[in-house]
Amino acid sequence: MEKKTFYITTPIYYPSDKLHIGHCYTTVAADALARFKRLAGYEVFFLTGTDEHGQKIERRALAAGKEPKEFVDEIVAWIKNLWKLLDISYDDFIRTTEKRHMQAVQKIFQKFYEQGDIYKAKYEGWYCTPCEAFWTERQLVEGNCPDCGRPVELVAEESYFFKMSKYVDRLVEHIETHPEFIQPVARKNEMINNFIKPGLEDLCVSRTTFKWGIPVPFDPDHVIYVWLDALSNYITALGYMSEDDSLLKTFWPANVQLIGKEIVRFHTIYWPIFLMALGLELPEKVFGHGWLLLDDGKMSKSKGNVVDPIVLIDRYGSDAIRYFLLREISFGADGHFSEEALVQRLNFDLANDLGNLLNRTLAMLKKYFDGRIPERGEAGPEDEELLQEAAMLPQKLEALMDELQLSGALAELWKFIGRANKYIEETAPWALKKAGKESRLQTVMYNLLESIRFISVLLSPFMPKTPIRIWQQLGIANYPELHTWESLKTFGGLPAGISTQPGEVLFPRLELTAEGGPVRQATKKDKPQTTKQPQKAKEKQTEGLISIDEFARVDLRVAEIKEAEKVQGADRLLKLIVALGEEQRQVVAGIAQHYQPDELIGKRVIFVANLKPAKLRGIVSEGMLLAASDDEGNLTLVTTEAPIKTGSKVK
Ligand code: MSP
Repeated sequence: MEKKTFYITTPIYYPSDKLHIGHCYTTVAADALARFKRLAGYEVFFLTGTDEHGQKIERRALAAGKEPKEFVDEIVAWIKNLWKLLDISYDDFIRTTEKRHMQAVQKIFQKFYEQGDIYKAKYEGWYCTPCEAFWTERQLVEGNCPDCGRPVELVAEESYFFKMSKYVDRLVEHIETHPEFIQPVARKNEMINNFIKPGLEDLCVSRTTFKWGIPVPFDPDHVIYVWLDALSNYITALGYMSEDDSLLKTFWPANVQLIGKEIVRFHTIYWPIFLMALGLELPEKVFGHGWLLLDDGKMSKSKGNVVDPIVLIDRYGSDAIRYFLLREISFGADGHFSEEALVQRLNFDLANDLGNLLNRTLAMLKKYFDGRIPERGEAGPEDEELLQEAAMLPQKLEALMDELQLSGALAELWKFIGRANKYIEETAPWALKKAGKESRLQTVMYNLLESIRFISVLLSPFMPKTPIRIWQQLGIANYPELHTWESLKTFGGLPAGISTQPGEVLFPRLELTAEGGPVRQATKKDKPQTTKQPQKAKEKQTEGLISIDEFARVDLRVAEIKEAEKVQGADRLLKLIVALGEEQRQVVAGIAQHYQPDELIGKRVIFVANLKPAKLRGIVSEGMLLAASDDEGNLTLVTTEAPIKTGSKVK
């Protein structure tokens, strides 16, 4: 049977500066898609690289007192290292300064010229160097670049022009007859209405006022316009115009070209027109994703450590960063980045939902079956839904990934994690044990372990390091056949008799420190021992204990819940208004899975009144309710035993 192929590309990055966390989104998303398709049995070619020519880079190099090539070499090495840290599994990394690319681009330019698509004329107009984009007077917004808002420069020079007009009708027809070509649909409408309908002008495709670019082969005073140079990478990397174009034959046209929304114009107008002029097919889908923004606006490197991907990977680990990026930017929309939001996702989704499922299951297995995977025994009514959902999960995720709904696919996977956690509550293994229902207990434990295996395999495209850690704990690290797509065809592949190896917590809960950066939250293991203490130095015995004065610093009060509502887009959060005597406070509490908003009104709870305010999902939270939770996922608010005035101090 012929193998299905899948060609996916990212834009090639400008090595003009080190990248920030927002830049990482395109490449992490493309990597997750590439890995997913490989898992699903496709022969994948995943291309990324760097866009190294043009006036912007030349000026940056000059400012740094370096030759352009020396300047880009350093940043390209930094970018490659970043991709390694983020587990980016590219098949090729193309640099536009490589000979293979430069020669092919010259041949492309020559071909355009020979077939009459290019003519020489004088260009007079505006140029935005940061965007490397030409603009007409009418397109400027208050005299600035309409894309980035920065000042433009007046350019007047002799240039070669590409006859866009020759192909524009074919392009419009293609866009109209291939609704999947420009995704999401809103971007398609924007292209047609804002750029094509007002009249597409011929594009200036060479420059003469600087040198850092690929020379026009028949007129070496000109360098080829950097976007024509850069866009060609998607085919030059496959050997187009070289002696060996077998990769092109196998993989072109691309299945998905993933790009940020600000460069959709280049990829859905110029790029398809160049391809038409070359007689090549157009890519199946160009997807313009949203941006990752900071609360106070656009991301930039000048925001320092908080957006530095290497600092963040070092603090939280690459899988947590990948998870955050993929989950936070939903289909086509913008997402928000803050370290608080990152820590929150880490604590809720990774530590609580996923981590607890594994821990609880392995802890119960140890207690009930000495850590060994049991045979399945008696079936029960709670099994049906779990098994059905597990069986549908791979196809569900694949359909979402095909629509590029990466965040949606993760949400679906987490829904199943939630389902498995609920299965624990429904079946109550501890009660089965107590009642001596051994055979039923075997089935329940088996189904949980097999569900975790399903989750781990489907998680691997998104978080490549975590599944390996889960497989080690399940005792199946050396069973590669249990890590495959095929192995998800039957629920029940996990062999009985294997000894599990509960290991370290997958994702410890973290807290942000005032200085920035996380610390681990105290866990049971961190707490001081109270029994059988060996004789140690005195300070050792009191390590971890606090004095009465330290305790008194926590201002605990009785509060009454006045209002409660769900926080949109956050399954676990409720926004509450509580009264402390005369005062009212707003607080965001992670209790939505345990309480309905209505049942909370009027409850008197214990409230931490002197906690520094924090923002959760953009909502300010001024305090915290006390709640107790156990290993089995139960949670209850701490309330007062008898009526007492709100605002009363708790000591
Ligand atoms: N060199 C061009 C692309 C040429 S492709 C033929 C370029 N490079 S870039 O380095 O500026 O951007 C690379 C990618 O990073 C783009 O997809 C861009 O959208 C993405 N991002 C840059 N900042 C971003 C965010 N804040 N959030 C999400 N993606 C962002 O453009």
